[in-house]
Amino acid sequence: MSVDTTGATRHEAEVSEEARRRRTFAVISHPDAGKSTLTEALALHSSAITSAGAVHGKGDRRGVTSDWMDMEQDRGISITSAALRIDYEGRVLNLLDTPGHADFSEDTYRVLSAVDCAIMLLDSAKGLEPQTLKLFDVCRARRMPVITFVNKWDRPGREPLELLDEIEQRIGLRPTPLNWPVGIAGDFRGLVDRDSGVYTKLTRTPGGATKAIEEAVDTDRAAEVEGEAWERAREELELLEALGADFDRESFLTGKSSPVLFGAALTNFGVGRLLEAVVGLAPAPAAKGDVNERPRPVEAPFSGQVFKMQANMDKNHRDRMAFVRVSSGRFDRGMVLTHAATGRPFATKYTQAVFGADRSTIDTAFPGDVIALVNAQALKVGDTLYDGAKVEFPAIPSFAPEHFVVARAKDAGKYKQFQKGIAQLDAEGVVQVLTSDVRGEQAPVLAAVGPLQFDVVKHRMEQEFRSPVEVSPLEYSVARRTDEESAPTLHALSGAEVLRRRNDGELLVLVHNKWRLRVIERDHPSLFMEPLLAGGVV
Ligand code: G4P
Repeated sequence: MSVDTTGATRHEAEVSEEARRRRTFAVISHPDAGKSTLTEALALHSSAITSAGAVHGKGDRRGVTSDWMDMEQDRGISITSAALRIDYEGRVLNLLDTPGHADFSEDTYRVLSAVDCAIMLLDSAKGLEPQTLKLFDVCRARRMPVITFVNKWDRPGREPLELLDEIEQRIGLRPTPLNWPVGIAGDFRGLVDRDSGVYTKLTRTPGGATKAIEEAVDTDRAAEVEGEAWERAREELELLEALGADFDRESFLTGKSSPVLFGAALTNFGVGRLLEAVVGLAPAPAAKGDVNERPRPVEAPFSGQVFKMQANMDKNHRDRMAFVRVSSGRFDRGMVLTHAATGRPFATKYTQAVFGADRSTIDTAFPGDVIALVNAQALKVGDTLYDGAKVEFPAIPSFAPEHFVVARAKDAGKYKQFQKGIAQLDAEGVVQVLTSDVRGEQAPVLAAVGPLQFDVVKHRMEQEFRSPVEVSPLEYSVARRTDEESAPTLHALSGAEVLRRRNDGELLVLVHNKWRLRVIERDHPSLFMEPLLAGGVV
């Protein structure tokens, strides 16, 4: 049979070629490690923008970190995330923005479910920090490949070998440096590429406003110019060689080892090499397993999963957007897809590619791309949309909530709006909504990973749903999954309460703290209490 004779094979060949060109990734880091600066620097190396600051101006936090809420502007943090498309040497890189603030890790979790690789960004002076560790746990649970970028090498920091040791000891990830710094942090001279041996000397650019001039110097001259610093780097490189810390594709792809790169996002130094690593090492979109663990190949007809819902991006136009990561097939604007959860058709007349806060209409998309569907009231996080043969992807697991409040409408006359708003915020995954017969529908319990999420609820309930709410904190900090059989006994215990999660009907037991939990587990070993997220993020 000759290939390319039918439309179907041509179509499959196109999709598979387009999928091969794509890399979809996110940056995981602790606030202040330099994620925004790095995003800007990455974009600068591509045709996406022409000067740093266009993506993320300091005085004007627009762009990659969207500024759709006043509250977000006031606090200068990014509450929601968007996707940035970077065209680079014939490849399409989709960088999904992850909210940096610790309170929004649940949102970040969902973003991580939509990428194929993560860049773990470390501050050279601080190494692994709490938020990075928490997000790394998510990557590990998904066996996701992680590329490590040690940032801020232009200023005083820690020894490179010490940082590698920390990565290996604390998170059991085997570091395999791709390049190595010459000169100590603070007196940074340049980088040696371990594979080619090429030495790239640092030439500073003021403020990092343009791409750094990276001057390749041959090794004999480098030894002459850099003297002692070169000698020291050479010794360290020999040590790495002896330790066998070389890149290994298989262990990288299964999340066991991590290629490490050094650099300074602010001066754009080493960022080009990082882009090359993403293109050369990160996996292209591949077949995704459905609820029955059957893989849907990228060439199959269109399928995608909603990983994020967002409302209110434009104040004058109160719409709701569903961000969908394309898993298979070619997406053409106007297609009528099927919503797997309801079996109903979903028209995609209004589709947008999201570039920072900018929106532009897109016509086609391929595996690895992110599309934003407007007027997506019917969709919720985790939902599958497909064309052709039915497919449904597994739900996106959520973080275990650690903060709980009771919400009530301030104005009893606005109860209808109250109900509608809470249901919407639940569907979007802003908070989890828990109810029980004891508490009643009028006073649901809201559960979140971080307390700032409740401010988002208050703000949106007032501004968008015109039903101001008051929230009263509950004294619980731990949640576990339970079942019908164990629920009555658990509910009767002091310091514990059983509620039902509205969106999936799951029974959760809330407990005051982990000490109380341990006592309950010790005294009632037969009761069913299971952590909420496999991988131990609880
Ligand atoms: P985040 O998104 O991870 O929170 O971090 P962001 O990029 O906002 O960077 C945090 C701070 O670290 C910023 O300084 C930024 O300029 C600085 N930074 C980022 N990368 C580098 C680097 O490679 N080298 C050095 N020396 N600094 C870096 P700031 O003082 O908060 O802001 P600004 O006043 O410098 O604009």
